[in-house]
Amino acid sequence: MQRLQIRDLAWSPQGERPLLQDIELAVGDGEMVGLIGPNGSGKTSLLRCAYRYQRPDQGSIEVDGDALWGRSPRWCAQRVAVVLQEFPEDFGLTVAEIAAMGRTPHKGLFDGHDQADHALVEQALAQVGLTDLKRQAFASLSGGEKQRVLLARALVQQPTLLLLDEPTNHLDPRYQLQLLRLIKALGLATLASFHDLNLAAAFCDRLYVLDHGRVVAAGTPAAVLTEALLAEVYGLQALVDSHPLAGHPRITWIV
Ligand SMILES: Nc1ncnc2c1ncn2[C@@H]1O[C@H](COP(=O)(O)OP(=O)(O)OP(=O)(O)O)[C@@H](O)[C@H]1O
Ligand SMILES: [Mg+2]
Repeated sequence: MQRLQIRDLAWSPQGERPLLQDIELAVGDGEMVGLIGPNGSGKTSLLRCAYRYQRPDQGSIEVDGDALWGRSPRWCAQRVAVVLQEFPEDFGLTVAEIAAMGRTPHKGLFDGHDQADHALVEQALAQVGLTDLKRQAFASLSGGEKQRVLLARALVQQPTLLLLDEPTNHLDPRYQLQLLRLIKALGLATLASFHDLNLAAAFCDRLYVLDHGRVVAAGTPAAVLTEALLAEVYGLQALVDSHPLAGHPRITWIV
């Protein structure tokens, strides 16, 4: 069974041309899948459909074999965690309080946090390297630190499927690698959008390429990231060879 299975999905905002069409996509257990494509190609829109924020006009989305839109938002939040490009309103909360919000879908309305919840928060903050900042105000953090808090919140949610929209956006190279290594080591089914194709090639088991709202290529990084595809989708010339140490494709843009 796939953790995420999207079939024949289409979506158009009211009265406009379709922004997503004929989307077929799956993420298997333990798989790290990348979503790449130019600005405006539909990556964020597709992720929104997959975390039950935006209802598609057509097609089906299944999480753990169940139709996502036949279930409640709470059911979805118990299974799907998402880290977005934007930062949430923080209402003066601390790092630990933001991370603890990940427990919400698993609690009753008036339940407090118990020892197990606190342990999960501590563990997640340690995993993203933020233990020392746990009492600091979220608003006072750098962009990269905020990004890591939101990943900690997603981990605290204990999802079966992790969705990430450009997770390395605000991060310096050290934290880019650290975050992606951490996510990979979690072994969770993950669908993540990327602009950095070399990071996508290094970390993803498979890639889907979106262009104008359609999947134009899918497969392993080596199968997908060809000079011809990059020219077609990005309109740029690139040299694609193999990474000398790791063997995955390496893209050098010809400027
Ligand atoms: N609610 C909406 N109403 C109208 N147009 C929308 C809506 N949401 C997204 N769009 C348009 O859909 C297209 C795809 O947007 P989306 O944010 O999914 O792209 P993206 O691939 O995530 O781009 P980026 O790489 O810049 O993040 C864009 O042209 C955007 O303006
Ligand atoms: Mg986007």
